[in-house]
Amino acid sequence: MPTRPRIAIIGGGNVGASCAVWAATRELGDVVVVDIPQAEGLVKGKMLDLAEASPVDRFDAAVTGTTDYADIAGADVVVITAGLPRKPGMSRDDLIKTNVEIVVSVSRNVAQHAPDAVVIVVSNPLDAMVYSAWKTTGFPTHRIVGQAGCLDVARYKTFIAMETGFSVEDINALLLGGHGDDMVPLPRFTNVSGIPVTQFISPDRLDQIVERAKKGGGEIVELMGTSAYYAPAAGVTQMVEAIVRDKKRILPCAGYCDGQYGIDGLFVGVPCVLGAGGVEKVVEIDLDDSEQALLTASAAHVRELVGIVRGMYPDLA
Ligand code: NAI
Ligand code: 2OP
Repeated sequence: MPTRPRIAIIGGGNVGASCAVWAATRELGDVVVVDIPQAEGLVKGKMLDLAEASPVDRFDAAVTGTTDYADIAGADVVVITAGLPRKPGMSRDDLIKTNVEIVVSVSRNVAQHAPDAVVIVVSNPLDAMVYSAWKTTGFPTHRIVGQAGCLDVARYKTFIAMETGFSVEDINALLLGGHGDDMVPLPRFTNVSGIPVTQFISPDRLDQIVERAKKGGGEIVELMGTSAYYAPAAGVTQMVEAIVRDKKRILPCAGYCDGQYGIDGLFVGVPCVLGAGGVEKVVEIDLDDSEQALLTASAAHVRELVGIVRGMYPDLA
Protein backbone atom coordinates (compact mmCIF):
# COMPACT_ATOMS: atom_id res chain seq x y z
CA MET A 1 0.00 0.00 0.00
CA PRO A 2 1.51 3.41 -0.87
CA THR A 3 2.43 5.49 2.16
CA ARG A 4 1.83 9.17 2.55
CA PRO A 5 4.74 11.60 2.27
CA ARG A 6 6.31 12.40 5.64
CA ILE A 7 6.76 16.04 6.55
CA ALA A 8 8.83 16.96 9.62
CA ILE A 9 8.69 20.45 11.06
CA ILE A 10 11.35 21.48 13.57
CA GLY A 11 10.05 24.16 15.93
CA GLY A 12 6.37 24.09 16.81
CA GLY A 13 5.97 27.80 17.50
CA ASN A 14 3.94 30.27 15.48
CA VAL A 15 5.40 29.48 12.05
CA GLY A 16 5.91 25.74 12.65
CA ALA A 17 2.41 25.13 13.99
CA SER A 18 0.84 27.16 11.17
CA CYS A 19 2.82 25.09 8.63
CA ALA A 20 1.49 21.94 10.31
CA VAL A 21 -2.09 23.16 9.96
CA TRP A 22 -1.74 23.85 6.25
CA ALA A 23 0.28 20.76 5.42
CA ALA A 24 -2.21 18.52 7.22
CA THR A 25 -5.42 20.18 6.05
CA ARG A 26 -4.21 20.07 2.45
CA GLU A 27 -3.34 16.40 2.91
CA LEU A 28 0.25 16.92 1.79
CA GLY A 29 1.35 14.07 4.05
CA ASP A 30 1.75 12.91 7.63
CA VAL A 31 3.17 15.64 9.83
CA VAL A 32 5.51 15.40 12.81
CA VAL A 33 6.53 18.52 14.71
CA VAL A 34 9.63 18.49 16.93
CA ASP A 35 10.32 20.98 19.70
CA ILE A 36 12.66 21.25 22.69
CA PRO A 37 11.99 19.32 25.95
CA GLN A 38 10.84 22.51 27.71
CA ALA A 39 8.03 22.78 25.13
CA GLU A 40 7.07 19.09 25.15
CA GLY A 41 3.54 19.51 26.53
CA LEU A 42 2.86 22.43 24.24
CA VAL A 43 3.96 20.74 21.03
CA LYS A 44 2.23 17.47 21.86
CA GLY A 45 -0.93 19.33 22.87
CA LYS A 46 -1.01 21.55 19.79
CA MET A 47 -0.62 18.61 17.43
CA LEU A 48 -3.22 16.52 19.26
CA ASP A 49 -5.56 19.50 19.03
CA LEU A 50 -4.89 19.70 15.27
CA ALA A 51 -5.45 15.95 14.85
CA GLU A 52 -8.81 16.34 16.60
CA ALA A 53 -9.83 18.87 13.94
CA SER A 54 -9.43 16.27 11.19
CA PRO A 55 -12.93 14.73 11.35
CA VAL A 56 -14.46 18.19 11.09
CA ASP A 57 -12.15 19.54 8.39
CA ARG A 58 -12.06 16.09 6.76
CA PHE A 59 -8.36 15.50 6.28
CA ASP A 60 -6.52 12.21 6.57
CA ALA A 61 -3.05 12.81 7.95
CA ALA A 62 -1.27 11.55 11.03
CA VAL A 63 -0.22 14.58 13.08
CA THR A 64 2.19 14.23 16.00
CA GLY A 65 4.13 16.48 18.35
CA THR A 66 7.37 15.17 19.84
CA THR A 67 10.74 16.05 21.33
CA ASP A 68 12.41 12.93 19.95
CA TYR A 69 14.26 13.28 16.66
CA ALA A 70 13.92 9.54 16.07
CA ASP A 71 10.32 10.39 15.10
CA ILE A 72 11.46 12.23 11.95
CA ALA A 73 12.99 9.07 10.47
CA GLY A 74 12.01 8.65 6.84
CA ALA A 75 10.95 12.29 6.40
CA ASP A 76 10.73 13.37 2.77
CA VAL A 77 10.79 17.05 3.71
CA VAL A 78 12.10 18.74 6.85
CA VAL A 79 11.12 22.35 7.57
CA ILE A 80 13.37 24.16 10.06
CA THR A 81 11.50 26.91 11.90
CA ALA A 82 13.38 26.60 15.21
CA GLY A 83 14.78 29.88 16.43
CA LEU A 84 13.92 33.21 17.96
CA PRO A 85 11.67 35.59 16.06
CA ARG A 86 12.45 39.29 16.14
CA LYS A 87 10.83 41.81 18.45
CA PRO A 88 10.05 45.46 17.67
CA GLY A 89 13.22 47.42 16.96
CA MET A 90 15.21 44.32 15.98
CA SER A 91 16.41 43.45 12.51
CA ARG A 92 16.56 39.86 11.27
CA ASP A 93 20.36 40.11 11.45
CA ASP A 94 20.18 40.75 15.22
CA LEU A 95 19.04 37.12 15.60
CA ILE A 96 22.12 35.60 14.01
CA LYS A 97 24.14 34.61 17.08
CA THR A 98 21.31 32.82 18.88
CA ASN A 99 19.74 31.28 15.82
CA VAL A 100 22.91 29.93 14.23
CA GLU A 101 23.50 27.86 17.37
CA ILE A 102 19.94 26.53 17.21
CA VAL A 103 20.07 25.82 13.47
CA VAL A 104 23.42 24.05 13.74
CA SER A 105 22.19 21.80 16.54
CA VAL A 106 18.90 21.07 14.73
CA SER A 107 20.74 20.37 11.46
CA ARG A 108 22.98 17.80 13.14
CA ASN A 109 19.87 15.93 14.25
CA VAL A 110 18.29 16.21 10.82
CA ALA A 111 21.40 14.79 9.16
CA GLN A 112 21.40 11.88 11.58
CA HIS A 113 17.69 11.04 11.53
CA ALA A 114 16.42 12.14 8.10
CA PRO A 115 19.47 11.84 5.85
CA ASP A 116 17.47 11.68 2.61
CA ALA A 117 15.15 14.63 3.22
CA VAL A 118 14.85 17.87 1.32
CA VAL A 119 15.36 20.62 3.93
CA ILE A 120 13.50 23.92 3.82
CA VAL A 121 15.03 26.48 6.18
CA VAL A 122 12.86 29.28 7.58
CA SER A 123 14.75 30.53 10.66
CA ASN A 124 16.22 34.02 10.39
CA PRO A 125 18.41 35.64 9.22
CA LEU A 126 17.26 33.33 6.48
CA ASP A 127 20.01 33.39 3.90
CA ALA A 128 22.73 32.76 6.50
CA MET A 129 20.72 30.04 8.23
CA VAL A 130 20.31 28.14 4.94
CA TYR A 131 24.07 28.23 4.54
CA SER A 132 24.52 26.97 8.14
CA ALA A 133 22.09 24.09 7.58
CA TRP A 134 23.88 23.16 4.35
CA LYS A 135 27.32 23.11 5.89
CA THR A 136 26.15 21.25 9.00
CA THR A 137 24.11 18.56 7.27
CA GLY A 138 26.56 18.11 4.40
CA PHE A 139 23.52 17.52 2.17
CA PRO A 140 23.88 18.18 -1.55
CA THR A 141 22.90 21.73 -2.43
CA HIS A 142 19.75 20.69 -4.28
CA ARG A 143 18.36 19.28 -1.01
CA ILE A 144 18.76 22.53 0.93
CA VAL A 145 16.60 25.56 0.21
CA GLY A 146 15.34 28.60 2.09
CA GLN A 147 11.89 30.12 2.28
CA ALA A 148 11.82 33.86 1.89
CA GLY A 149 10.86 34.73 -1.69
CA CYS A 150 7.48 32.98 -1.55
CA LEU A 151 6.60 35.23 1.39
CA ASP A 152 8.10 38.42 -0.01
CA VAL A 153 6.39 37.96 -3.36
CA ALA A 154 3.10 37.11 -1.64
CA ARG A 155 3.27 40.40 0.26
CA TYR A 156 4.04 42.29 -2.96
CA LYS A 157 1.15 40.62 -4.79
CA THR A 158 -1.22 41.29 -1.89
CA PHE A 159 -0.44 45.01 -1.98
CA ILE A 160 -0.87 45.11 -5.76
CA ALA A 161 -4.24 43.38 -5.46
CA MET A 162 -5.27 45.85 -2.75
CA GLU A 163 -4.21 48.76 -4.96
CA THR A 164 -5.83 47.59 -8.19
CA GLY A 165 -8.84 45.75 -6.81
CA PHE A 166 -8.06 42.75 -9.05
CA SER A 167 -7.96 39.15 -7.85
CA VAL A 168 -4.79 38.04 -6.10
CA GLU A 169 -4.95 35.01 -8.39
CA ASP A 170 -4.24 37.17 -11.42
CA ILE A 171 -1.19 39.01 -10.08
CA ASN A 172 2.08 37.52 -11.35
CA ALA A 173 5.42 38.71 -10.04
CA LEU A 174 9.02 37.75 -9.53
CA LEU A 175 11.51 38.94 -6.94
CA LEU A 176 15.17 38.08 -6.42
CA GLY A 177 17.76 38.59 -3.69
CA GLY A 178 17.92 38.28 0.08
CA HIS A 179 14.93 38.24 2.41
CA GLY A 180 12.82 41.34 2.93
CA ASP A 181 14.58 44.69 3.06
CA ASP A 182 17.25 43.29 0.74
CA MET A 183 14.97 41.89 -1.92
CA VAL A 184 15.31 42.92 -5.54
CA PRO A 185 11.99 43.84 -7.13
CA LEU A 186 11.56 43.25 -10.85
CA PRO A 187 8.62 45.46 -11.87
CA ARG A 188 9.04 44.55 -15.56
CA PHE A 189 8.11 40.97 -14.65
CA THR A 190 5.00 42.06 -12.73
CA ASN A 191 1.69 41.73 -14.56
CA VAL A 192 -2.02 41.26 -14.01
CA SER A 193 -3.15 38.35 -16.17
CA GLY A 194 -0.33 39.15 -18.58
CA ILE A 195 -1.07 42.91 -18.71
CA PRO A 196 1.94 44.95 -17.50
CA VAL A 197 1.24 46.28 -14.01
CA THR A 198 2.30 49.77 -15.11
CA GLN A 199 -0.97 49.94 -17.05
CA PHE A 200 -2.76 50.04 -13.68
CA ILE A 201 -0.25 51.54 -11.24
CA SER A 202 2.07 54.52 -11.82
CA PRO A 203 5.83 53.90 -11.41
CA ASP A 204 5.95 56.13 -8.31
CA ARG A 205 3.11 54.29 -6.63
CA LEU A 206 4.67 50.95 -7.58
CA ASP A 207 7.90 52.07 -5.89
CA GLN A 208 5.92 52.73 -2.70
CA ILE A 209 4.35 49.27 -2.92
CA VAL A 210 7.78 47.67 -3.38
CA GLU A 211 9.05 49.54 -0.30
CA ARG A 212 6.08 48.31 1.74
CA ALA A 213 6.72 44.72 0.63
CA LYS A 214 10.43 45.02 1.51
CA LYS A 215 9.53 46.19 4.99
CA GLY A 216 6.47 43.93 5.26
CA GLY A 217 8.02 41.79 8.00
CA GLY A 218 8.81 44.86 10.10
CA GLU A 219 5.30 46.25 9.62
CA ILE A 220 3.84 43.10 11.21
CA VAL A 221 6.43 43.02 14.01
CA GLU A 222 5.51 46.60 14.94
CA LEU A 223 1.81 45.71 14.99
CA MET A 224 2.02 42.39 16.86
CA GLY A 225 5.24 42.56 18.88
CA THR A 226 6.46 39.38 17.19
CA SER A 227 6.98 38.27 13.64
CA ALA A 228 4.48 37.11 11.08
CA TYR A 229 3.40 33.50 10.74
CA TYR A 230 0.35 32.98 8.54
CA ALA A 231 1.88 34.28 5.30
CA PRO A 232 5.32 32.75 6.07
CA ALA A 233 3.69 29.38 6.70
CA ALA A 234 1.65 29.70 3.51
CA GLY A 235 4.90 30.30 1.62
CA VAL A 236 6.49 27.24 3.20
CA THR A 237 3.44 25.11 2.39
CA GLN A 238 3.63 26.15 -1.26
CA MET A 239 7.21 24.83 -1.31
CA VAL A 240 6.38 21.62 0.56
CA GLU A 241 3.55 20.94 -1.89
CA ALA A 242 5.81 21.51 -4.89
CA ILE A 243 8.26 18.95 -3.49
CA VAL A 244 5.94 16.20 -2.23
CA ARG A 245 3.74 16.42 -5.33
CA ASP A 246 6.73 16.82 -7.67
CA LYS A 247 5.07 19.83 -9.27
CA LYS A 248 8.16 21.40 -10.89
CA ARG A 249 6.95 24.85 -9.88
CA ILE A 250 9.15 27.87 -10.46
CA LEU A 251 9.17 29.65 -7.10
CA PRO A 252 11.43 32.36 -5.69
CA CYS A 253 13.51 30.55 -3.05
CA ALA A 254 16.93 30.85 -1.46
CA GLY A 255 18.69 28.38 -3.73
CA TYR A 256 22.37 27.61 -4.07
CA CYS A 257 24.09 29.69 -6.72
CA ASP A 258 27.05 28.11 -8.35
CA GLY A 259 27.96 30.95 -10.68
CA GLN A 260 24.40 31.85 -11.67
CA TYR A 261 23.82 35.61 -11.70
CA GLY A 262 27.54 36.02 -10.97
CA ILE A 263 27.02 34.61 -7.44
CA ASP A 264 29.19 31.74 -6.30
CA GLY A 265 28.89 29.56 -3.21
CA LEU A 266 25.90 31.29 -1.60
CA PHE A 267 22.18 30.70 -1.10
CA VAL A 268 20.32 33.73 -2.43
CA GLY A 269 16.75 34.31 -3.60
CA VAL A 270 16.50 33.16 -7.22
CA PRO A 271 13.79 31.45 -9.31
CA CYS A 272 14.05 27.74 -8.48
CA VAL A 273 12.35 24.74 -10.07
CA LEU A 274 11.02 22.79 -7.08
CA GLY A 275 10.13 19.14 -7.44
CA ALA A 276 10.70 15.78 -5.80
CA GLY A 277 14.47 16.26 -5.99
CA GLY A 278 14.32 19.60 -4.17
CA VAL A 279 15.81 22.46 -6.17
CA GLU A 280 16.01 20.80 -9.55
CA LYS A 281 17.28 23.90 -11.35
CA VAL A 282 18.04 27.57 -10.77
CA VAL A 283 16.46 29.51 -13.60
CA GLU A 284 18.56 32.35 -14.96
CA ILE A 285 16.94 35.37 -16.56
CA ASP A 286 18.65 38.28 -18.27
CA LEU A 287 18.85 41.19 -15.87
CA ASP A 288 19.49 44.76 -16.90
CA ASP A 289 22.42 46.61 -15.32
CA SER A 290 20.45 48.16 -12.47
CA GLU A 291 18.72 44.89 -11.55
CA GLN A 292 22.05 43.06 -11.60
CA ALA A 293 23.65 45.77 -9.41
CA LEU A 294 20.87 45.39 -6.82
CA LEU A 295 21.21 41.60 -6.82
CA THR A 296 24.99 41.83 -6.47
CA ALA A 297 24.58 44.19 -3.49
CA SER A 298 22.02 41.86 -1.93
CA ALA A 299 24.38 38.89 -2.35
CA ALA A 300 27.19 40.92 -0.77
CA HIS A 301 25.04 41.38 2.33
CA VAL A 302 24.35 37.63 2.46
CA ARG A 303 28.11 37.03 2.19
CA GLU A 304 28.69 39.36 5.18
CA LEU A 305 26.22 37.36 7.29
CA VAL A 306 27.82 34.10 6.21
CA GLY A 307 31.14 35.60 7.34
CA ILE A 308 29.66 36.05 10.85
CA VAL A 309 28.54 32.39 10.83
CA ARG A 310 32.00 31.25 9.74
CA GLY A 311 33.53 33.37 12.50
CA MET A 312 31.39 31.54 15.06
CA TYR A 313 31.83 28.08 13.55
CA PRO A 314 35.13 27.94 11.63
CA ASP A 315 34.37 24.35 10.57
CA LEU A 316 31.36 25.69 8.61
CA ALA A 317 33.73 27.56 6.26
P1 NAI B 1 8.35 31.04 17.82
O1 NAI B 1 9.13 31.57 18.98
O2 NAI B 1 6.88 31.15 17.83
O3 NAI B 1 8.72 29.51 17.59
C1 NAI B 1 10.02 29.02 17.60
C2 NAI B 1 9.96 27.60 18.11
O4 NAI B 1 11.25 27.01 17.98
C3 NAI B 1 9.57 27.51 19.60
O5 NAI B 1 8.49 26.61 19.75
C4 NAI B 1 10.84 27.01 20.25
O6 NAI B 1 10.61 26.23 21.41
C5 NAI B 1 11.43 26.20 19.11
N1 NAI B 1 12.86 25.91 19.28
C6 NAI B 1 13.82 26.69 19.78
N2 NAI B 1 15.00 26.03 19.79
C7 NAI B 1 14.76 24.81 19.28
C8 NAI B 1 15.57 23.67 19.03
N3 NAI B 1 16.87 23.67 19.32
N4 NAI B 1 14.98 22.59 18.51
C9 NAI B 1 13.66 22.56 18.21
N5 NAI B 1 12.86 23.62 18.42
C10 NAI B 1 13.40 24.73 18.95
O7 NAI B 1 8.95 31.75 16.52
P2 NAI B 1 8.28 31.81 15.06
O8 NAI B 1 7.47 33.04 14.95
O9 NAI B 1 7.66 30.51 14.76
O10 NAI B 1 9.58 32.03 14.15
C11 NAI B 1 10.52 31.01 14.02
C12 NAI B 1 11.71 31.49 13.18
O11 NAI B 1 11.29 31.71 11.83
C13 NAI B 1 12.33 32.81 13.64
O12 NAI B 1 13.73 32.75 13.51
C14 NAI B 1 11.75 33.82 12.67
O13 NAI B 1 12.55 34.96 12.54
C15 NAI B 1 11.72 33.00 11.41
N6 NAI B 1 10.82 33.48 10.39
C16 NAI B 1 11.27 33.44 9.11
C17 NAI B 1 10.46 33.80 8.06
C18 NAI B 1 10.94 33.67 6.67
O14 NAI B 1 10.24 34.11 5.76
N7 NAI B 1 12.08 33.08 6.41
C19 NAI B 1 9.11 34.32 8.31
C20 NAI B 1 8.71 34.28 9.69
C21 NAI B 1 9.56 33.89 10.71
C1 2OP C 1 9.08 38.17 8.04
O1 2OP C 1 9.47 38.69 7.00
C2 2OP C 1 10.11 37.73 10.19
O2 2OP C 1 11.21 37.13 8.22
C3 2OP C 1 9.99 37.30 8.82
O3 2OP C 1 7.93 38.34 8.48
